[in-house]
Amino acid sequence: MFRAMRLLLSAAKSGAAGRASSGSSRLLSASPGSGRLAGKVAIITGAASGIGKATAAEFVKNGAKVIIADLQDDLGHAVAAELGGPDMAFYARCDVTNEAQVAAAVDLAVARHGHLDVMFNNAGIIGGTYMGGPIESMDMADFDRVMAVNLRGVATGIKHAARAMVPRSQGCILCTASTAGVLGGSAPHAYSVSKTAVVGMVRSAAAELAARGVRVNAISPYGIATSMGTRAVREMLGLPLVGAGAGDEEAVRRVFEEDFNEMGGGVVLRAEDVARAAVFLASDDARYITGHNLMVDGGFSVGKPLNVPVH
Ligand SMILES: NC(=O)c1ccc[n+]([C@@H]2O[C@H](COP(=O)([O-])OP(=O)(O)OC[C@H]3O[C@@H](n4cnc5c(N)ncnc54)[C@H](O)[C@@H]3O)[C@@H](O)[C@H]2O)c1
Repeated sequence: MFRAMRLLLSAAKSGAAGRASSGSSRLLSASPGSGRLAGKVAIITGAASGIGKATAAEFVKNGAKVIIADLQDDLGHAVAAELGGPDMAFYARCDVTNEAQVAAAVDLAVARHGHLDVMFNNAGIIGGTYMGGPIESMDMADFDRVMAVNLRGVATGIKHAARAMVPRSQGCILCTASTAGVLGGSAPHAYSVSKTAVVGMVRSAAAELAARGVRVNAISPYGIATSMGTRAVREMLGLPLVGAGAGDEEAVRRVFEEDFNEMGGGVVLRAEDVARAAVFLASDDARYITGHNLMVDGGFSVGKPLNVPVH
């Protein structure tokens, strides 16, 4: 009996050692340049700037080849060059409101690299002015524009990515939503609704595509000081959009780092945090995760303090 127990203990120990060593090698494999996305081919829309640009950098660092799809040609070409040039990162002009251009971006990825593994539908706009005014004066043309980019653009990206991924029974589609899609009152109506609908689109597509081997997930960041985020905060503070003085910069910085910030310990949300969440979801570590909306918000959306003074 003692011998049996000793055998059990030693088996348990070697199992733990095995798990520990695979844990440490996983830590190593998560370090920059180690290839969690090695061999994968990705398209990232809105990758000339902000979250998309940071994600393109993180993807390349992790071994992926990336198509930078955007409308800002100069910035897009510059990002592609910065990330190592056409073999690693290639810029393609792609307006996500134009289905033919989205289809062409997918075809380009397949033509250059033979397949498409990851489609990150990230391009988005906030629309008119940040707080947009009362609902009675909602600008319906602006509403349509925001929906065309944020929702229809995502739906189009899912459609054409699925066309390339389903025949191989594998692939990962990511879509940028927002905390504004989960909570009302923090963004203009059109933006908020478009992001709620992105999560609906993700669930609907994930439900269909799981059985065909393709995963679909959303990522919902809180406020980040990208060009979109900074513009929104400037409008909130009543600051000019350009030509700001140093005092203005400081006021904007305080909003992102203090007023918006939910996380203690000096941690401030950056585009790179979203990029790393995207690497995880795009990697094989997330191979059974689909239909999920990953909040990258430091807990902003999980609670609201009671409006009751505590005695
Ligand atoms: N910054 C934030 O606080 C924040 C928070 C939550 C969600 N988001 C979302 O993150 C995504 C990226 O935004 P960001 O903060 O990096 O802003 P950003 O303005 O830096 O980047 C957006 C990019 O999308 C591109 N784009 C806009 N319309 C396009 C179109 N029709 N076709 C192709 N590309 C287009 C722009 O040219 C730009 O490069 C958006 O979907 C946004 O709604 C941002």
